Amino acid sequence: MSLSDGNRAGWFLSFEGGEGTGKTTQICRLRRRLQEAEYQVVVTREPGGTEIGRRIRKILLTAIEPENDMPSIALEEEQTVLENFQRPHALSEALLFSFDRLEHLQGVIRPALQAGKHVLCDRFADSTLAYQGYAQGKDIEKIAALNKLVVGETWPDLTFVFDLSEKICLERAHGRGEAVSYFEKKKLGFHQELRRAFLQIARDESHRCVVIDAERSIDQISRDIAKICHDRLGMALS
Ligand code: TYD
Repeated sequence: MSLSDGNRAGWFLSFEGGEGTGKTTQICRLRRRLQEAEYQVVVTREPGGTEIGRRIRKILLTAIEPENDMPSIALEEEQTVLENFQRPHALSEALLFSFDRLEHLQGVIRPALQAGKHVLCDRFADSTLAYQGYAQGKDIEKIAALNKLVVGETWPDLTFVFDLSEKICLERAHGRGEAVSYFEKKKLGFHQELRRAFLQIARDESHRCVVIDAERSIDQISRDIAKICHDRLGMALS
């Protein structure tokens, strides 16, 4: 299997940041703008952008922490399997996210880029470095090497790093009225580390990363993103 992305004819954009930073809303906005400008666009996410990825997503996001007092989000039939589930080592977790990523790259992202479609991906390899690297296991170098191996040549052309105070992130994540995932249940300190991690990654990868102040209004952020797409990638968006 080749890790090369062949003839890439579309732009690859990723959206990164902590929990509840508003990435998904902005991806929808940008998709609309791109479609209005008659660009072909594929919206996808990690984990879970392929069929096998959706199964991996369930394993990764519904694991129960023994000491946790929040209600479990596991489906009834998964409950038995997950009852005695011990959270895996951060590096094992990174391998599972990477498994998902490799399948996603091969099955969805590269074919779309080669077909000239623009790919908007909700989280990508920077999330593994931030969550499993900086915020959890601290095996930064190993995870960076893993990312390099898995991503090959297919790094995003542009990565939006959504930055928001960790307090607002937590409030928003819990206020969404949806089931709360494993990472959303983590305490404030974890979210502070995540924020620092993403800002560090944005500095280290400044050739492709742009930090987005996610405390502004949806409209302001959306206009900002369209302008950055225009300035950096030459996309003509209204
Ligand atoms: P999701 O419900 O998609 O959250 P969000 O809307 O915040 O993107 O859940 C994805 C979760 O998985 C999120 O908590 C971040 C985490 N994650 C990792 O820990 N490592 C990774 O490599 C990826 C892609 C996601």
